[in-house]
Amino acid sequence: MEVERDQRPHTASLMAETIPVVDLSNLDEEQVSRAVVKASEEWGIFHVVNHGIPMDLIGRLKEVGAQFFHLPEKEKNAVAKQAGSKDFEGYTTNLKYVKGEVWTENLFHRIWPPSCINLTYWPNNPPQYREVIAEYTKETKKLSERVLGYLSEGLGLPREALLQGLGGESTEYVMRINNYPPDPKPELTLGVPEHTDIIGIAIIVTNGVSGLQIFKDDRWFDVHYIPTAITVNIGDQILRLSNGKYKNVLHRAIVDKEKQRMSWPVFVDANPDVVIGPLPELITEDSPAMFKPITCKDFKYRRLLKLPVD
Ligand code: SIN
Ligand code: FE2
Repeated sequence: MEVERDQRPHTASLMAETIPVVDLSNLDEEQVSRAVVKASEEWGIFHVVNHGIPMDLIGRLKEVGAQFFHLPEKEKNAVAKQAGSKDFEGYTTNLKYVKGEVWTENLFHRIWPPSCINLTYWPNNPPQYREVIAEYTKETKKLSERVLGYLSEGLGLPREALLQGLGGESTEYVMRINNYPPDPKPELTLGVPEHTDIIGIAIIVTNGVSGLQIFKDDRWFDVHYIPTAITVNIGDQILRLSNGKYKNVLHRAIVDKEKQRMSWPVFVDANPDVVIGPLPELITEDSPAMFKPITCKDFKYRRLLKLPVD
């Protein structure tokens, strides 16, 4: 679907309706599962509260991220993305007052499985960075598996179905830390232009400065901040595995004139060699496949080059 570009990115609608909030401490698991499924069908994004990840750990995650971006450029470049590298890992910066440009610097590296980890891209400074990320990895993996379990149940499948569809134990987890410093000309730039995530799901925390917006029912919505919540985004791979049942949310991030904004998404991403297509159990005469099976790496290649996929 072609979505018309809103030329006024800084004026998201003020709507009474907000993205769903799911309380994961509710002892009625079926109710939780239904709430996650409904939110994923209707919005493709939701907050989870009482998610089980210790707030102290989230606080430390935010601290090491903020400390990293405060380092002099030379130190940040110790983990810079290599020029010409085909892979995404490393530190990149793009802070220019140019109309239409993004206004962000970020750090990107794989965090799981261990065989995929390249510590070259894990900062040594601040000194606690690596241990905090390793601890946060375990927690986000647990939370992601729980969410994927509910989404699988919503498809009438065993809890492991979607994780298996992404590659099971070889599913990759990727940390991205986005820094959007105050931008003196916020009307010229965007933190991140509108897009859907090409991954499975994203598990996101932010520093509380608003800026994330999502598109639904022909409008842009501000994603409200709940200090204790984690935001879950559904990406393209889950849309495709679920044969269109779960929505890949269209979103973007705007920047602030005065405040620094930061976000910490963890992406749950299919193994590059896994074939992503509707799970076979979902295909019936009444519900034919909406997407062609394609390896994850070809899918990404085509999406990044804006080539047709289906
Ligand atoms: C994104 O990665 O899409 C941006 C997330 C955010 O900054 O909130
Ligand atoms: Fe995104």
